[in-house]
Amino acid sequence: MKILVTGGAGFIGSNFVRYILKKYPGYKIVNLDKLTYAGNLENLKEVEGNTDYTFVQGDILDGKLIASLLEGTHPATCREPLTTIINFAAESHVDRSIEDPASFVKTNVLGTQVLLDAARKAWATPGHRFIQVSTDEVYGSLGPTGYFTEETPLAPNSPYSASKTGADLMVRAYFETFGFPGIITRCSNNYGPYHFPEKLIPLIITNALEGKSLPVYGDGQNVRDWLHVEDHCSAIDAVLHKGKTGEVYNIGGNNEWKNIDIVNLICDILDERLKVPGQPQGTAPTRSLIKFIKDRPGHDRRYAIDSSKIKKDLGWTPKYTFEQGLKETIDWFLENREWWQGIKSGEYLKYYEKNYMSR
Ligand code: NAD
Ligand code: DAU
Repeated sequence: MKILVTGGAGFIGSNFVRYILKKYPGYKIVNLDKLTYAGNLENLKEVEGNTDYTFVQGDILDGKLIASLLEGTHPATCREPLTTIINFAAESHVDRSIEDPASFVKTNVLGTQVLLDAARKAWATPGHRFIQVSTDEVYGSLGPTGYFTEETPLAPNSPYSASKTGADLMVRAYFETFGFPGIITRCSNNYGPYHFPEKLIPLIITNALEGKSLPVYGDGQNVRDWLHVEDHCSAIDAVLHKGKTGEVYNIGGNNEWKNIDIVNLICDILDERLKVPGQPQGTAPTRSLIKFIKDRPGHDRRYAIDSSKIKKDLGWTPKYTFEQGLKETIDWFLENREWWQGIKSGEYLKYYEKNYMSR
């Protein structure tokens, strides 16, 4: 397969690039990434020298560039047309979308449409596939019971989720109107190595290691369904090889946690870990750093995914238990301090100040 991965220098995209190159030697990957604040080539150091892998810095809004990559006229594609697109590229953080909705519409809606158009023109013959990596947030918020299925009406509540919904509807429209080979995946909250430390789990781990306060929005009772990033990658792998065009596949961990319970759990694991001789000492007990702050506007109360369709139709099952995945993730952040300390400076500090200091 010759795959164009977009946004492959971000959290999930970089895990996916490593996953595919390891599992399928011979598959070619071209990774197109704009390298926004969230894109980081450090995430891909391990595959830099792999001859099946090429990095191109660029924007999914650049139709000419996309066309040249797909047609094989760009020097990076070595005259080999690309047969598949997996679109991870996006502005992905809900809090940033509240500050600046326009950039989310540009990249997430318009960027996806530019990709769809370039692919539609380049792919005149059958045998192609476009996977839109979407989110459970397009379904909005659940009450205390029930699950999101693929038939749940779309009801996004944040500029981020509204922009992801717009992109999903474009993929749907291209399938219905042009017979375009699009597939949509909608996954719940991911966690794991290389998770950008603006998101809850890596923010709590790294703030705790720095002895900073641990910000919990509102009453901390909001529920998320957490899935290890590698399990998300294996689900996209299943869709890539066995998914049916025109379909939507929900992906989730059946692993619901209230935010405050997850924060407490991270604190307890860290306290336990930092007792190990040789590890630098943190501020124990870490739970004393927790601080409840003003809620996120439009904060969705609960997400919970019904993933029975992808399990039944494509044979996907997640491999990680949350206990194992979270402990391994915490260990990864303990062992890779340079990676997150590098990020938590410069632009990040400005964002942090704006989002947290006035709450
Ligand atoms: P991320 O923010 O870590 O990475 C996004 C990547 O896209 C970055 O490398 C960035 O440089 C790149 N990018 C942004 N704008 C671009 C543009 N205009 N052109 C090219 N590249 C651009 O995001 P993530 O958490 O890895 O999420 C990846 C995808 O998965 C997103 O589409 C997101 O909506 C979706 N998703 C994320 C989660 C989650 O829990 N993180 C869950 C479900 C779905
Ligand atoms: O559900 C999938 C989505 O999960 C993805 O589509 C998004 O790209 C991804 O960012 C994530 O969105 P969330 O808003 O659920 O993730 P976040 O880590 O920002 O927040 C998780 C929960 O924790 C949410 O209820 C808000 C809360 N929170 C978050 C932060 C950053 C806090 O209480 N404090 C914080 O400082």
